[in-house]
Amino acid sequence: MASTLPPYIKYLSAFVLIFGILYKYEIPTTDNKTFLLTKKSTLQYNKSHVYQIITNIDRYALWYPNVVRVEQSKPISSGSKKQVDGKYQLITKIPLIGDISSELTIHTKDRPKRFVYSVDSWLLEVNSIELKDNSNNINSTDIQWTVYTKRRSMLFQYLILPFAKFYKNQLVREALFTLMLQIRNL
Ligand SMILES: *[C@@H]1O[C@H](CO)[C@@H](O)[C@H](O)[C@H]1NC(C)=O
Ligand SMILES: *[C@@H]1O[C@H](CO)[C@@H](O)[C@H](O)[C@H]1NC(C)=O
Ligand SMILES: *[C@@H]1O[C@H](CO)[C@@H](O)[C@H](O)[C@H]1NC(C)=O
Repeated sequence: MASTLPPYIKYLSAFVLIFGILYKYEIPTTDNKTFLLTKKSTLQYNKSHVYQIITNIDRYALWYPNVVRVEQSKPISSGSKKQVDGKYQLITKIPLIGDISSELTIHTKDRPKRFVYSVDSWLLEVNSIELKDNSNNINSTDIQWTVYTKRRSMLFQYLILPFAKFYKNQLVREALFTLMLQIRNL
């Protein structure tokens, strides 16, 4: 019976099998995350001011290229000081696909030195943004932006990783460039 099947069925099932294995098996990584990229820039404001700008999620859409908007996941209790840490819905525009919503988690415990946020998207990304006083000018800040992924399937690690790096690299570069040019208006 099997011998009467057209040959492409065999190739197809072999392909599906390999795809399934690659998708299912996870590669152990240190810290459960894989480095994607790091980018640096210098912004013409002091550290606390820059920190305030990059943690102002209401304004992400103004400087992060594919962000449409950020929504509160749960309402913040009014009266208390504005609390940034927590979970949000990040709406991004993906080429050919359209708007998608992912969960955004923000941690600001190392204020104002480090800002960490993770996005529960196809990339399972963790962004770590470090701020340092610029040694030449007290009114400017060096920013270093590093992106990791928590995806560990072999499919992702062997096939998708290079494209993910390329894609994310463009976005972070554009974000930093827009920040540099627009920081006065943010
Ligand atoms: C990696 O993830 C596993 C389970 O998901 C967990 O048990 C382990 O503690 C994590 N390791 C690190 C370094 O976070
Ligand atoms: C940082 O810059 C902001 C805006 O220019 C200013 O209001 C603030 O006083 C500065 N803080 C320090 C510590 O220099
Ligand atoms: C830094 O900015 C303050 C005002 O925000 C200004 O008085 C001071 O001269 C500036 N210092 C330098 C080195 O640019």
